[in-house]
Amino acid sequence: MPTIPVITIDGPTASGKGTVASRVASHLGFGLLDSGALYRLTAFSALEANVELTNESALADLAGKLDIHFEGERILLSGREVSNDIRAEAVGVAASKIATLAKVRSALVTLQHDFRRMPGLVADGRDMGTVIFPDAPLKVFLTASVEARAERRYKQLIGKGFSANMANLLQDLRERDERDTQRVIAPLKPAEGAKLLDTSHMSIDQAVEQVLGWYHPAP
Ligand code: DC
Repeated sequence: MPTIPVITIDGPTASGKGTVASRVASHLGFGLLDSGALYRLTAFSALEANVELTNESALADLAGKLDIHFEGERILLSGREVSNDIRAEAVGVAASKIATLAKVRSALVTLQHDFRRMPGLVADGRDMGTVIFPDAPLKVFLTASVEARAERRYKQLIGKGFSANMANLLQDLRERDERDTQRVIAPLKPAEGAKLLDTSHMSIDQAVEQVLGWYHPAP
């Protein structure tokens, strides 16, 4: 049986990997896994249910029982659209905290593997190339300076109708980078053999073109 191709795109928060992943996926006609959304959905459910963000077993339980549907850009949680709610900064911060917990991460593994379907998958996150799809034929590690990322996140939040403050965003990003790269389990780091792409001074189109240029389908 032919292996199903996967392109992994890992990188820090607000590096533009979500947009790049989604454009690459639609160009190739591949499916898309926004793995950060799974951590955000778990965090969102925990905040709503008043589950402590340190209660590992209860959080893993929530993660394992998530009733999620991805319909294009829309994300439904137990039938309710939460696409915008999970993008709130507070949910991102909570997601980064619960993502340090081993049981939460393992509760989400099968769900992520299930996204690997023909004709292929583009998976974005932190550990797509290192842990979840280590056999992916193309692994990309996408970065951008913290300033460039803060500016992008600022525009994204304002665009979605949230309020935002540049100084707070910079601090948030730095703290989140620290947590994502320093955690013991599945820390953010380039996978072996990953192509590095610094998009600080690159447009989305240029980044997409570069990733597509690196991809050579198996004959
Ligand atoms: O990509 P994002 O900002 O939507 O992700 C939210 C948080 O989820 C991020 O701070 C760390 C965590 N995450 C993770 O630990 N592993 C992934 N594969 C994706 C996200």
